[in-house]
Parts: sequence; C-alpha cells; structure tokens
Amino acid sequence: MTGSQQITVRQMQADDISAADSLREAAGWNQRQTDWLTALAYQPDGCFVAVCRGQIAGTVTTTSYGTELGWIGMMLVAPSLQRRGIATQLMETAIEYLQELGIECIRLDATPTGRIVYERLGFQSEWDFHRWERSHGPQVTIEPAPTVSMDTLSAELVQLDRDAFGTNRSAWLKAAGPHSRCVGFEQGFGMSRTGSRATYLGPVVAESTDAARRIAVTLLNDIAGPVFWDIPGPNIAATRMAQTMGFLPVRDLTRMRLGPESVQPDYSRLYGLYDPGMG
Ligand SMILES: CC(C)(COP(=O)(O)OP(=O)(O)OC[C@H]1O[C@@H](n2cnc3c(N)ncnc32)[C@H](O)[C@@H]1OP(=O)(O)O)[C@@H](O)C(=O)NCCC(=O)NCCS
Repeated sequence: MTGSQQITVRQMQADDISAADSLREAAGWNQRQTDWLTALAYQPDGCFVAVCRGQIAGTVTTTSYGTELGWIGMMLVAPSLQRRGIATQLMETAIEYLQELGIECIRLDATPTGRIVYERLGFQSEWDFHRWERSHGPQVTIEPAPTVSMDTLSAELVQLDRDAFGTNRSAWLKAAGPHSRCVGFEQGFGMSRTGSRATYLGPVVAESTDAARRIAVTLLNDIAGPVFWDIPGPNIAATRMAQTMGFLPVRDLTRMRLGPESVQPDYSRLYGLYDPGMG
C-alpha cells in the first residue's frame, strides 16, 4: 500500500456515523443510523473506524455483555478498498479491546465473505443459520401479548433471557428498548424495530413454542411491509414456525466463536436474534 493510502484505525465518533452508514447502505444491510448511535452510546470506546486519506474506509463495533461475552459486529469495508487487510486490522483492534476488558469468549455472526476473514483470525464456526424474510402476511387472530418496557422487565424474564442468550444482556435490551416495539408476558418477550429495508423481528425469547408464536404474531400483526427474522440454526421449532408463517430464507450466516465456550446459550428458548451485529 502506498504512503498516501496508509490506513489508520481509531475510535468511532458520533460524527463518523453518517459515513459509516453509507458503507452499511452500500452493503445492502438493514440497520439505520439509530442502530449505530445505540451501539456507540453503549460501548463508546469500543467502536472503531479505519481511515484512509481522511475518509472512513471501514467500521467495526463491539458490544460487551459484562465480562463474560463480547460481540463483534458491523464489520464493513468500502468496496474500493477491500482485500487490503482493513477488515483484519479492524478485527485485531476489536479483539484486543475486548480481551483487555477481560472477556475470553467472543462471538459474531458472519457473512460468507466475513467468515473467511474470521477463520484466519482463529474463529471457529458454531452453527449456520438463515435470515428469513416475508414481504407481507395475513393478520392472525391471537390473544395479543401486552406491551412491556425493557426498563422494567420482570426478574423472571431477565432470567429467561439470561438462560436463552447465555449471559445477562439486560443493559443492552434497555438501551435498545426506546427504538423498539416490545411485548411480553410471563412466558417470554419479543422486540421489533424499523430497519432501512424491512422491519426487524427479534429478539424473541420464550419458554415454549406456543409462547414464542404468541409473541411473534403479536408483533407481526402490527407490521404492514416486509419483515426480516434471524433464527438460530439449532432452533428447529422456530424455523418451522417461520416457514408456516410464509417466511423464506434469503441470506446465509454463520455463528462463530473465538475463545472458550464459557457462555452457553439455550437455543431451544431463543426464537430470534437481536441483530447479527449485536447477537
Ligand atoms: C468481508 C469484508 C469486511 C472483508 O474486508 P477486507 O478488508 O477486504 O478483508 P481483508 O483484506 O482483511 O481480508 C483478509 C483475507 O480474507 C480473505 N478474503 C477477504 N475478502 C475475500 C473475498 N471477497 N473473497 C475471498 N477471500 C476473501 C482473503 O484471504 C484475505 O486475504 P488476502 O487478500 O491476502 O487474500 C468486506 O468484504 C466487506 O465489507 N464485505 C461486505 C460486508 C460484509 O460481508 N461484512 C462482513 C460481515 S460478517
């Protein structure tokens, strides 16, 4: 790389989000500027940009769930600057940041191209999964799950989420709550939020398939246009539910891990992810 194309990596600032979101748009991803802002407010010193000739050339975010689990997301490199080691440099920065917090177990959700980058850095695949999409669907008669606030989620639902996700992420759910529609009852809860291409359904966390269906249908009945739903590969019941509701698989992703499997989710109770960028 010539001197004029030298890449530097630094912490992301709020001013970078417009440029970061242009990379997101170029990749066709579904997040919005609000999602970047939420990630940056939650982990202000753990989101990074690569800069080339004064322009934002790449991005990465980290999200720490206590000191048990770290997440890496929003890995994007400008199309004209790919294959120059920028993703690798950003990943090394993100991994070092999380490890300095004392986090040993790091997870992420990889696109097929991202997976090649991450394997070279020592990440192992845990399971494959699909993004499911439905362009529109019928209203389904069901007793609606009540609206809940992530600020006052019951101790039982916090514990259920902890069991399903593998660690306590209530601080993150509180941060995301204001931008989401949130419903729940004793046996589970779910969220949906506006995306730039489709409304995103997730997470959906429930004790049983019946409870998950009630939560998903309540949220879906409020959505007029297209919906994305990322379903953990090991949850076969969730996959069947999406299929019967008219969802089709549109993207292939892989859950990957670096470090020990010290955080063990219960995927039978995780019916939808929050977002591949944050788990
Ligand atoms: C995936 C992505 C972030 C990689 O960025 P990058 O800066 O080009 O990656 P690097 O230059 O660090 O690549 C490191 C190695 O990974 C592999 N690799 C990267 N991109 C590849 C591709 N398109 N095809 C095959 N191998 C690839 C190569 O082995 C490469 O080393 P090499 O160039 O010396 O052969 C970039 O392609 C991108 O933004 N894609 C769109 C969004 C996306 O999928 N992000 C990943 C989310 S999980």
